[in-house]
Amino acid sequence: MMSLVSLSLICFFLVPIQAQSTITVDLAKKYQTMDGFGTSETFQRANQMRALSPELQRYSLDLLFNRTSGAGLSILRNGIGSSPDSSADHMVTIQPQNPGGPNAAPKYVWDGNDNSQVWVSTEAANTYGVQTFYANAWSAPGYMKTNNNDANGGSLCGVPGSSCSSGDWRQAYANYLVQYITYYKELGVDISHLGFLNEPGLTTSYASMRSSGRQAADFIAILRPTLDRANYSNVKITCCDSEGWNQQAGMMGDLKGVEANGALGTVTAHSYTSQPGSPINSKLPVWQTENADLQGPWTAAWYSNNGAGEGLLWATKIYDTIVRANATAYLYWIGVQGGATNSKMIRISDDKKSVIPSKRLWAMANWSRFVRPGAQRVATSGGPSEARVSAFENVDGTVSVQVIQTGTASGAVTVKMGGNTFTIKEASAWITDNTRDVGELEVEATNDGGVKTTVPGRSMVTFVLKPEAQN
Ligand SMILES: *[C@@H]1O[C@H](CO)[C@@H](O)[C@H](O)[C@H]1NC(C)=O
Ligand SMILES: *[C@@H]1O[C@H](CO)[C@@H](O)[C@H](O)[C@H]1NC(C)=O
Ligand SMILES: *[C@@H]1O[C@H](CO)[C@@H](O)[C@H](O)[C@H]1NC(C)=O
Ligand SMILES: *[C@@H]1O[C@H](CO)[C@@H](O)[C@H](O)[C@H]1NC(C)=O
Repeated sequence: MMSLVSLSLICFFLVPIQAQSTITVDLAKKYQTMDGFGTSETFQRANQMRALSPELQRYSLDLLFNRTSGAGLSILRNGIGSSPDSSADHMVTIQPQNPGGPNAAPKYVWDGNDNSQVWVSTEAANTYGVQTFYANAWSAPGYMKTNNNDANGGSLCGVPGSSCSSGDWRQAYANYLVQYITYYKELGVDISHLGFLNEPGLTTSYASMRSSGRQAADFIAILRPTLDRANYSNVKITCCDSEGWNQQAGMMGDLKGVEANGALGTVTAHSYTSQPGSPINSKLPVWQTENADLQGPWTAAWYSNNGAGEGLLWATKIYDTIVRANATAYLYWIGVQGGATNSKMIRISDDKKSVIPSKRLWAMANWSRFVRPGAQRVATSGGPSEARVSAFENVDGTVSVQVIQTGTASGAVTVKMGGNTFTIKEASAWITDNTRDVGELEVEATNDGGVKTTVPGRSMVTFVLKPEAQN
């Protein structure tokens, strides 16, 4: 539920106002339905969180998932391990040993911990009500692959074009992925989305498995009935977490068949090699499942010189992905970890005695707290020049309007409901900028039925409105 308790009922003083710009929200014109916002604690990052003091553990979890004091993230992406051990930052597999071939009885091993991803997941589900869990394998275990190694590329034995003396491992890999879901189910966490690839165009020194679109479609045709037989017909198969938006778009032709027959549930893409600028050609929900500034030195700033880690820039990246590229979910790479880069939104200090949120987190929060799962994006017109404007109708009837002012101009902005069929009963506005950290703004009623506040330069302001239909 939207935190309506914190909404301030506005006083309808009829003060004449010279509105400098007006945004009109059109609830009749609807776009995609949102699935949510999220992040990951994979590659043993969850272990770093769990090694913190109990107070800092709670603070970290609140920053990620709490809907009143944190970002209220609604999606957690977990890594399904493929490595034989947990050395370095390996994600350990649930079947380290080859059971003796693709048709042998499996020899699964479950430590109930999964590099602390179980802890983060059960906290997310039980304490904060998160319902969307994306379990995503980077690779199959090495013995199932052409190169006999879970790292360094190679492909799944049995897909078209593969050649393996060990046989066809496709059904064994599908069973293995289903077993991972079952381990979580037994702990009370329902995995909602399942991915079997990560960056399938990349061969690298950590877990990686190559796949073309055709090979992915071939495996999806096996995985879907395997899930259904195990009573997981509600689990959506994702594909393919390509490194960039354009690469994923390029795989869609080969995925048309599994899209049309319902086997594929959600299209997933990262933003490293190409950023989302236009929709991927699919009727399915499309998620942006991984992006981060991997290189830049740690910054917690909102705006200083438009550097790669700054909050305002991330607010606009989220805008482009949702409004221009039609995504229904946005995930930053890592939530909480140590180290001096921007690969995460929240940094564990080197002495491990503090946890430091960046404005990237608050940029995300200004979306994720107000655009809840199930919200539909709706049309807007007007707005200040240089601003990016978006609007969403939540399931509970509240409407949130985001105004990202990337320019320096400050000005009054009025938000109105279009069509004269709705009046605004309650409203609040929230600001993110360089200085404000819990920025609730005053809103005023305008004499034409709108609500108004000042949007300063280089800021993001979110209006939350409760419209009521007029009789
Ligand atoms: C979230 O934060 C608020 C405010 O600090 C706190 O009262 C609440 O207990 C926290 N936890 C949850 C699950 O909301
Ligand atoms: C399948 O799931 C349904 C709904 O969760 C449950 O009622 C049923 O017992 C399950 N069947 C099996 C075979 O697990
Ligand atoms: C946007 O995505 C939705 C699914 O979330 C799809 O139905 C719709 O066709 C897409 N629109 C465009 C313009 O691609
Ligand atoms: C928006 O961002 C600011 C940080 O600049 C943060 O303090 C504020 O809580 C965020 N708003 C919400 C509602 O998340």
